[in-house]
Amino acid sequence: MATLKNDRYIKALLREPVDMTPVWMMRQAGRYLPEYKATRAEAGDFMSLCRNADLACEVTLQPLRRYDLDAAILFSDILTIPDAMGLGLSFGVGEGPKFAHPIETKTAVENLPIPDPEVELQYVMNAVRTIRRELNGEVPLIGFSGSPWTLATYMVEGGSSKAFTKIKKMMYSDPKVLHQLLDKLAYSVSLYLNAQIKAGAQSVMIFDTWGGVLGHREYLDFSLQYMHKIVDNLIRENEGNKVPVTLFTKGGGLWLEAIADTGCDAIGLDWTVNLADAKARVGHKVALQGNMDPSVLYAPAERIEQEVKQILADFGKGSGHVFNLGHGIHQDVPENSPHIFVEAIHQYSQPYHK
Ligand code: CP3
Repeated sequence: MATLKNDRYIKALLREPVDMTPVWMMRQAGRYLPEYKATRAEAGDFMSLCRNADLACEVTLQPLRRYDLDAAILFSDILTIPDAMGLGLSFGVGEGPKFAHPIETKTAVENLPIPDPEVELQYVMNAVRTIRRELNGEVPLIGFSGSPWTLATYMVEGGSSKAFTKIKKMMYSDPKVLHQLLDKLAYSVSLYLNAQIKAGAQSVMIFDTWGGVLGHREYLDFSLQYMHKIVDNLIRENEGNKVPVTLFTKGGGLWLEAIADTGCDAIGLDWTVNLADAKARVGHKVALQGNMDPSVLYAPAERIEQEVKQILADFGKGSGHVFNLGHGIHQDVPENSPHIFVEAIHQYSQPYHK
């Protein structure tokens, strides 16, 4: 990987030797950083920030200026695809996402367009190109999308949900309609991620935030099946380099073998899973990413370091681990906690790579 000055993250995903364990943080650009809030205020609102390539690039780079992170993640959102399909996305102040036109009927599903990533989502590709240029090969850029199931929950519920009443009603009473929706989403996500790769994303990750609310058979049928289709459709090599793909299902610890069987390169784990167990189950097939409880960052430095050491010991010797939080960083963590976290990983992981 001649073009990258620091390729630890890519190497670890491919289970190739590294000098220390790489680390990045889910939702590393965001409201826990005062400079993020300032740039967001300058943009006006969240979607205007996503649509402005220079400002999206600025907030992507902000956490890298503060902390010694081994990867950058595109600043955007998983809900750009439903927005591009015409659902009318907005983020109210202090509220979650809202769709003006949620999906309620079979006809609505049939009429959903497949967005052209270089037309309706060109602003995302422009952000990818700008960030790649500005990163100047320092660290790799991660592109991402939501999983079809997770996107469908927002599209059918009309926003965030706790009980998933509407989509579960659709799943159990009208499964064909839901499958049709998921099929369109899987195709749209494949086009979208491949466009991000062509624009310069060096690895991609699929966020299945809500896969864990499904029953066993329903997870395989309504979530994993569609992520598998996407993995089959992705460009796996670009600019002469492999483009690793990571699947993250929050609450997906029961299904690691099935997730590894999709042919992905890595599995993202939340903190309910023990890394030693996960490695014994699937470590011969895929790399693992995770998995500290983001709430540990509220604790004093010694407690953060203790947790980092424990997780490193659980994974043990060798490559194939990308350190991360088990979910997004909280908005109100102390400003220095991520620094302690990142430094501890780089320092204490070195003996495991000798
Ligand atoms: O550094 C990064 O990771 C930034 C890029 C990023 C964002 N969202 C920016 C964002 C990524 C990778 C996401 C993924 C995302 N978005 C997920 C999957 C990961 C996860 O957390 O489970 C989901 C489910 C969403 C949907 C979403 N976007 C919600 C539910 C919300 C509102 C809740 C919240 O955190 O405020 C968003 C908004 C959002 N996306 C913000 C950011 C920084 C906050 C918006 C703001 O600035 O007010």
